[in-house]
Amino acid sequence: MSRSLSIFVTGGHGFLGRHLTSALEKVGHHVVAPRSSDCNLLDPAALTPWNSRRFDRIYHLAAWTQAGDFCLHHPGEQWVHNQRLNTTVLEWWASSQKQAKLITIGTSCAYAPDRELREENYLEGQPIDSLFTYAMTKRMLWIGQLALAKQYGLKHLTLIPSTLYGPEYHSDGRQLHFIFDLIRKILRGHLYNEPVILWGDGHQRRELIHVDDFVRVALELSPRVEGQVVNVGAGEEYPIRTFAELICLQVGYDPSRIQYDTSKYTGARSKCLEITRLRRLWPDFNPISLGAGLKPVIAWVREKLVEAAPPEVCLSGRTTT
Ligand SMILES: NC(=O)c1ccc[n+]([C@@H]2O[C@H](COP(=O)([O-])OP(=O)(O)OC[C@H]3O[C@@H](n4cnc5c(N)ncnc54)[C@H](OP(=O)(O)O)[C@@H]3O)[C@@H](O)[C@H]2O)c1
Repeated sequence: MSRSLSIFVTGGHGFLGRHLTSALEKVGHHVVAPRSSDCNLLDPAALTPWNSRRFDRIYHLAAWTQAGDFCLHHPGEQWVHNQRLNTTVLEWWASSQKQAKLITIGTSCAYAPDRELREENYLEGQPIDSLFTYAMTKRMLWIGQLALAKQYGLKHLTLIPSTLYGPEYHSDGRQLHFIFDLIRKILRGHLYNEPVILWGDGHQRRELIHVDDFVRVALELSPRVEGQVVNVGAGEEYPIRTFAELICLQVGYDPSRIQYDTSKYTGARSKCLEITRLRRLWPDFNPISLGAGLKPVIAWVREKLVEAAPPEVCLSGRTTT
């Protein structure tokens, strides 16, 4: 086994954070991952309690966002929140943790919709309007990293996931990424005979990456890739209808019963990361197949989002596909 490292994780209790911290601990690293209630990164001094510790790595996952149309309705707050919390982390890295490698998480929506989603284009063109502020705060994070690394000779890396999926997502009523919402709706159609109405015409295409795949990539690339942006996706996208059919097959629901509401917000028509760089950096990368990846997620959604909220107590009817 490789040397045990001391690692700081922001957002370590979020969806990705829970999977990442548990994988880091499993391979023997010592992880410090405070919750926002104990370490609110909106406070510029939030990280000073750890000034005297010397971390080998910092994973900065914390971000103030949600799926669906959340970004559309909170652009101003998103700017203030995310710029503040990113600055807190960047400043701490450059002032107290110069020995640490900083690994941040970017977003595929920072890419302009009219360009190929390859790393060279991360700062090129204009991100989609509905996600503009969130996207720009992620670009600013990358620019902040570059600037501090240049001035102080620091080590860093940015990983850009396509939409993450896996078990143990959020069950606190927040807006869901499309795949969780799709599973929830189909399960409710199957179990409670509710109409399954999806947003858009179902031809908009999406890519997913299993959270365990993303974590494996993060562990593999963190020690050996320096100063780069790296897309982390499965390299394939599918129409929403295909995801829906796959879920129907596993759940036992007739896909012809699904209705499509073309009047609703659906975001980009297509979104698939170009992953040549990832394949070059890690030729053995072999993502979990969609069928195998979806199985435990369907079981999780059934238990936490569907059976825990039978028809009479289900409050949210929102769909984000
Ligand atoms: N999920 C995806 O599909 C996806 C795709 C692309 C990029 N990303 C990026 O990946 C990262 C992790 O995503 P995720 O899905 O795991 O998000 P998540 O579940 O919403 O987790 C975000 C975390 O940020 C923390 N946070 C928010 N405001 C904070 C503050 N003021 N101070 C300290 N911590 C704060 C929260 O901490 P508490 O829980 O303790 O409040 C939460 O754990 C984010 O940077 C996101 O932008 C995610």
